[in-house]
Amino acid sequence: MNLRYRKTIIAGNWKMNKTPAATRQLIEELKPLVSKAKWCDIVLCVPFVDIPNAIKATKGAKISIGAQNMHFEASGAYTGEISADMLTELGVKYVIIGHSERRQYFAETDATVNLKVHAALKAGLRPIVCVGESLEQRDLGITIEHIRLQVKSALSGVDSTNIKRIVIAYEPIWAIGTGRTATSDQAEEVCGAIRDCIREMYGARVARSVTIQYGGSMNASNAAELLSKPNVDGGLIGGASLKPADFATIVNAANQ
Ligand code: PGA
Repeated sequence: MNLRYRKTIIAGNWKMNKTPAATRQLIEELKPLVSKAKWCDIVLCVPFVDIPNAIKATKGAKISIGAQNMHFEASGAYTGEISADMLTELGVKYVIIGHSERRQYFAETDATVNLKVHAALKAGLRPIVCVGESLEQRDLGITIEHIRLQVKSALSGVDSTNIKRIVIAYEPIWAIGTGRTATSDQAEEVCGAIRDCIREMYGARVARSVTIQYGGSMNASNAAELLSKPNVDGGLIGGASLKPADFATIVNAANQ
């Protein structure tokens, strides 16, 4: 974290968990546990149908609501899809784009990620853009190369004003939902490389201001260590975000 230059953001990614009623309950449990968090922003990325309840339950609390996906077109014949404007009208502030599960199971590509980034920015949403390498890529020693490619294509055509509204989440695929976390040094190395890449594209001042999260089995016991690294500005948290006490511990670790 580096609070002098950028915001720390702790975001929960609930994935396909919790019904609308369970959403209200979880947020009611969470609210008192994170009420003292001043130095970090808290975001809950919930399933589409949970959004109205999540917005209602977080009213007056310093918690923003995010979606986990969206379509890049503004409207039209795209059965089953949700547009950026539909999200903003409900009060959604963030949207996860290009999560590795979407790339893996729903055929998302660097090209669609870029289209979604532009559509989200146009609608006033803050994209949380996910990048990450597979275990094979790490073993081959091409992690940084791969991540740089993902970052560059996700940000293609984004100007230096809009880049400040983008959050990048570094999520090594081998660490997601596996209980196997990247070491804080591994996380720092890649988050630092992402910042270098942004610096080359937009200059040092802009690069300094961008929030870069780590995600992949971040939990109540490893969060403080990961967040102690200068280029790790928060977390995108799956499993542990479904447990209010654990998520609150992570938020409070970011609030030091
Ligand atoms: P995990 O998921 O914390 O359960 O590993 C992180 C993510 O997929 O964003």
